[in-house]
Amino acid sequence: MFDIQCSISENMCGIVGYIGPQKAAPILLDGLSRLEYRGYDSAGMAILQNEETKILRAQGKLIQLRELAMKDLPSGSIGIGHTRWATHGRPSEVNAHPHRYGPITIVHNGIIENYSELREQLTKKGHSFSSDTDSEILSHLVAAELKNHPQTLQALRKALQKIRGSYAIALLNEKDPESIYIARQGSPLVLGFGTGENFLASDVPALLPYTKKVLFLEDGELVNLKSDSFLIEDLSGKSIHREPRLISWTLAMAEKGGYKHFMLKEIFEQPRAITDTIRGHLDSRKWAIREDGNHALFPNKSAIQQVDKIYMIACGTSWHAALIGRYYFENALKIPVIVEQASEFRYRQPLLDKKSFVIAISQSGETADTLMAVKNARLHGAKVLGVTNVVDSSLVRESDGVFYTYTGPEIGVAATKTFTAQLVALNLLATWLGRKKGVLKGSDTESFLRELLEIPSKMEHVLQQSKSIQEMAVKYAYGEDCLFIGRGPQFPIALEGALKLKEISYLHAEGYPAGELKHGPIALIEQGSPVVSLVLQDNYYEKMISNVQEVLARQASVIAIATEGDHRIAAQTQDLIYVPKMHSHLMPLLSVIPLQLLAYYIADHRGHDVDQPRNLAKSVTVE
Ligand code: M6R
Repeated sequence: MFDIQCSISENMCGIVGYIGPQKAAPILLDGLSRLEYRGYDSAGMAILQNEETKILRAQGKLIQLRELAMKDLPSGSIGIGHTRWATHGRPSEVNAHPHRYGPITIVHNGIIENYSELREQLTKKGHSFSSDTDSEILSHLVAAELKNHPQTLQALRKALQKIRGSYAIALLNEKDPESIYIARQGSPLVLGFGTGENFLASDVPALLPYTKKVLFLEDGELVNLKSDSFLIEDLSGKSIHREPRLISWTLAMAEKGGYKHFMLKEIFEQPRAITDTIRGHLDSRKWAIREDGNHALFPNKSAIQQVDKIYMIACGTSWHAALIGRYYFENALKIPVIVEQASEFRYRQPLLDKKSFVIAISQSGETADTLMAVKNARLHGAKVLGVTNVVDSSLVRESDGVFYTYTGPEIGVAATKTFTAQLVALNLLATWLGRKKGVLKGSDTESFLRELLEIPSKMEHVLQQSKSIQEMAVKYAYGEDCLFIGRGPQFPIALEGALKLKEISYLHAEGYPAGELKHGPIALIEQGSPVVSLVLQDNYYEKMISNVQEVLARQASVIAIATEGDHRIAAQTQDLIYVPKMHSHLMPLLSVIPLQLLAYYIADHRGHDVDQPRNLAKSVTVE
C-alpha cells in the first residue's frame, strides 16, 4: 500500500454546486462554463426538486447540456453539476456525471483506484451498475451505508473509508434535501459564501461572479453545506473550524490558477499530473500494472515472448519521450527498440511483421503523421499500442490497445506535463511487459515502483528552485544561440530543452549528444556561448565532466543541471541547478523541469506570447 503525497493534486474534471433561494440550474450552467478551460467531453447536473432528483446529462460540449436544460428548465434551488474529462470509461451520456443510486446522486473528480474490486463486491450483493466509470461506485457505496448509518454525512464517511484514490465529491440525498454533502481528498474544491446562499466549485473562476468570500478545502475534509451555514469534519468525524477568506482574483488570473501563463501552471502541475498517471495504472496492493483493456494485446507470457522488436513512433516532444522510453523497454524486454519520427516512418517500407510491436506516442492523439504511421504499421501486421492523453482520440481508434496519461488537458502549446506523464506511462508499460515476459522480477519492480512514487515530491523540490532559474533566465535572455548537451537518457532531455527554448523564445538552440561535440558543433563555441549541460551522476558522469571541461576551455558559459551534493561540478560553474538523485530511468523526469522553466522565463522576459507561440498549433492535424 502506498500513500502519494502531493500538494497540487487535481484531476481535470470540474464540479459546481449551489444551494439557496435562486433556481440552481442557470447558476450551475454558468459555473460549468467558467470551468471550460479544464476540458469537456460531457457534462451533467442534478437538481433537487420536491424531494425528487432531476438529472440532465449530455455528451459533448456544455452547449449540449444547456440546450437540454432550456427545453424544460428545472426549478429546484439545490443542485450539483459536473464537466467530465474522461479517465475511466469513454465520453458518452451514460458515463457523464451525475451518477445516481437510490436516493444518492454524486458528481466526482479524481480516480478511485479500487473501484473494480468494490464493484465486484456490490454486484454480488445485487447492485447493478449503469456506467463504465470508477465514480459510479460512490453513489452505490453511500446508498449501501445509509442502511446502517441514516445520517448522510456519516454514511459518506463510512463509504470513503472503503476507498483508495483521489476525490472531490459533491452529493445530494433526496431524502435529506436541505444540504449538499462534500468531500475532498487529492482533488481541489472551494466553497463560496453568499447571503442566504452558498456555492461550491472545483476552482475559483466558477465562483467569482457570485462571491469572493471563499474557503479552500483541505484533504480529508467532509462538509455539510446548507444555504446559510456549513459544517466541516474530518474523516474521523471530528469537527474542524476554519474561516472563509476574501480573494481579489480576476477571472483571467483564476483560470490560470494565479499563474501568468498556462504553461507555467502546467509546469507546476507536474507532480499532480504524474500522480494521477500512476494512480490510473498501478494496483498498489500487488505492485502490479493493471491490464484493463490491454490484456488482449498480450494475453500470456508466450504472446510477449514472440515479439522480436519494438518500434516507437512519435513527433516532437512525444518523440523525445520515445527516445528515453527506448532505455526502459530494452532493459525490460531485452529486445531491440527502434525509435523513429512518425513523419519519416510513415513513408518508409519498415521491416515490420506480426512479431513487431509498435508503440505510438501522441499527447493529442490527433497528430496526422503519427496516425498515418500507425496505419502503415498495422498494414504490415504489427500490433499497435497508443500512448495518449486524450480519451477517444483518433489514435485510440486506430490502435489495438491504449495506455493513457492522465494529466488533464494541456493548454499551453509547448508540451510540459504531458511529456513527464508520457515518461511515467512508458516506465509503467515497460514494467508491465517486462514482468509478463519474466525478464523483470517482482522484487525489482516493487522497489522501482516505490521509487517512482517518490517522484512527485522530488519534483516539488526541483520546482522550489524556480526563483533562481528565473534569475539565470534574465542573464541569458538575449543571447543568440544555446547548446544543450547530455548523454544516455539525458540526451533526449537536451533535445527537449532545446525544443522548448526554440518554440517559445524563438532563440536558436540545438540539443546534442555530448560525445558528438567534437565532430562538429564545438566549432560554434566562443566566449560566453551558453551551453546547458546535463551532468547527472549516472553511468555517463565522468564523460560528461570531460565534455564540460572541453566547452569551458573554449570559454563557454556552462549552465549545469547536476545531482544534489555534487561539489565537483560546483567548482566549475556558478549557474548550477541541482536535482535529487534517483534511478537513472527516473532522472529525466526531474532534469527536464529546470529546462522547461528556463525556456519559460527566457520567453516571458522577451515578452513573447508563451501559450500561443508564433507559427505553432497545439495539435498538428495536417501534414
Ligand atoms: O500531440 P502530439 O504529442 O502528437 O504532438 C507532437 C508534437 O506536435 C508536439 O510534441 C510539439 O512538438 C509540441 N509543441 C512540443 O512542445
